[in-house]
Amino acid sequence: MQGLKLLHGGDYNPEQWLDRPDILAQDIELMKKARVNTVTLGVFSWSALEPQEGMYTLDWLADIIHNLYANGIRTILATPSAARPAWLAHKYPEVRRVRADRVRELYNRRQNYCYTSPLYRDKVRRIDQKLAQRFGSDPAVILWHISNEMGGDCHCELCQAEFRRWLQARYGSLQALNKAWNARFWSHDYTVWEQIESPAPQGENAVQALALDWKRFVSDRHIDFLKFERDTVKELAPDAKFTANMMYRFDGIDYFKMAKEIDVASWDNYPTWHKPTETVEETALDTAMMHDLFYSMKGKPFLLMESSPSFTNWQPISKQKKPGIAELAALQTVAHGADSVLYFQWRASRGAEEKFHGAVVGHDGRQDARAFTETVQVGEKLEKLSEITAVQREKQALIVHDWQNKWALEGSCGPRNAGLGYWDELKRHYNALARAGIAVEFGDETADLTGYRLVVVPMLYLLTDAFAKKLCDFAQSGGTIVVTYWTGVVDESDLCRLGDTPYGLTKLLGLRRTEIDGMYDGETRRCTPVDGCTLPETQASILCEVAVHNDNDPAKPLCVYAEDYFAQHPAAAVHKYGAGRAYYLASRFDEDFYRTFYRDAAKELGLTPAWPQPLPAGVLAVKRGNFVLVQNCTEQPVTVGERELPRYGTAVWNESQCVL
Ligand code: GLA
Ligand code: ZN
Repeated sequence: MQGLKLLHGGDYNPEQWLDRPDILAQDIELMKKARVNTVTLGVFSWSALEPQEGMYTLDWLADIIHNLYANGIRTILATPSAARPAWLAHKYPEVRRVRADRVRELYNRRQNYCYTSPLYRDKVRRIDQKLAQRFGSDPAVILWHISNEMGGDCHCELCQAEFRRWLQARYGSLQALNKAWNARFWSHDYTVWEQIESPAPQGENAVQALALDWKRFVSDRHIDFLKFERDTVKELAPDAKFTANMMYRFDGIDYFKMAKEIDVASWDNYPTWHKPTETVEETALDTAMMHDLFYSMKGKPFLLMESSPSFTNWQPISKQKKPGIAELAALQTVAHGADSVLYFQWRASRGAEEKFHGAVVGHDGRQDARAFTETVQVGEKLEKLSEITAVQREKQALIVHDWQNKWALEGSCGPRNAGLGYWDELKRHYNALARAGIAVEFGDETADLTGYRLVVVPMLYLLTDAFAKKLCDFAQSGGTIVVTYWTGVVDESDLCRLGDTPYGLTKLLGLRRTEIDGMYDGETRRCTPVDGCTLPETQASILCEVAVHNDNDPAKPLCVYAEDYFAQHPAAAVHKYGAGRAYYLASRFDEDFYRTFYRDAAKELGLTPAWPQPLPAGVLAVKRGNFVLVQNCTEQPVTVGERELPRYGTAVWNESQCVL
């Protein structure tokens, strides 16, 4: 992949058009016009590559790949495992998933194979080997795309047996498992491994540590399947590089763990722009948070694997992107560290599920259609920015996002079962930092904190001993930490920490939690700043944690609750620790609170914003190496530096030179 320019193109499914050579020829012509330099082939091609069991027909794919290559277009080649042919599912029922209610599915849709079935793996191995033999050293193929958007779970007997093996490896004995799960409660002690079943609506769902382990196991199964496919290809194509396309806020796989097994992280981005409840800036920030998460997967540039040039067909309302949004989104992707802008799909399907999904080329095949002309413009701009690929981003702030924590947090019954809004919490911290032009990365509890100046720890309910220590060491040596409510509650088995909490952090924070109160939707408690503090008055919501400061070495309150029986308890506090400091936030506050909080914290830490002066509301700046991209996410023109930016417009500076 090295030495390539920004990739522009996307999913190309020509197996739908093999009987239309005129369309295939027009595709090449239009791709060149749209500055397409890369396509993804083969994602759903299995039935065209192996129409009958053991009968492989790869020539059509070779012709397409080589014809594209002759025209300057490279291929990301997918393994076809996500969508299996009907003959396979019909002949071998075990490849079809069993749902949580223990019903085996009929043949349907895609991304629903049993990842444990030896038979399925055998069939996948054979087709992957054929592809690797044929294209493994083909210069046209720049990257391998394993399967597609892995997810979901299978509850078949093969998977149950594998789950028990996984538990045996984790716990060693049933005695250890029973203890870790606190199974004695409600008399759930297990006496033989076969008694353990995956969670089911009509079965076990009260042993929360079991449910947590099931999520870990399912995630590991997907990663194992990915490794199996990767190694199958690698054996025949030792120089091959791999990616797997990940998804927005996806819960089913620990992506940090998965990313270790691939060379490049990639994700599929389908925001709904122009929602009545959200400004364009807010949608842009929501997307930016994901870009930064995927950048963080490997701490280096990622790929945007899919996006729509116009609209999707699967959201409740499929809105068109207004003129200019496709470009805004594309350049934002690059600003946040992507080396590609790729679409799903190149040409709209004639029939089936996705026939009305936006595509670069529509059913009319016209070059003057807006989706096409805007794609051409994006392609031209990406060519102008090609040098951006070499550069990395500066480390400033890290927000902790940990999949295991999320599973445990949301899997518990506690102070607020009506929804904890984990992403919402993260977003408030992220948005404030991003609006201040501070670079944000994400990391889980295994993250290396070196090089960051600020670490934000929102709702880290499941806190390991090792990470609690790492946080303290980070502050000790000069780092700044922000810890919120509902942190340090349980260990990795979802067993409550005994003694003072937030576990392992009470010295760091200079206080301890005494209670937590759940708020109804819309219910709030007023919080006021203490004398001399510049934070605004705000409202606490969702969960109000009550803390008391330590007698020796207490935290200094910045804001206090002003209502209810916990009035005067700290809502926000700060505590010096070693050469650093730790902030404590006892609840979820209004957005304004975070803006002031992080603007002040960034100033105090000496974090340089992407753009030195304050920007007009709705204008966002991001730095990537020496490049600074400023985007107008409002409907009005604005002036930034010497530049007039039209609505949704982007300006790019390289050093102090305006290059776009
Ligand atoms: C996902 C899939 C694609 C396609 C798009 C449509 O990202 O990977 O195959 O279905 O959604 O938005
Ligand atoms: Zn299974």
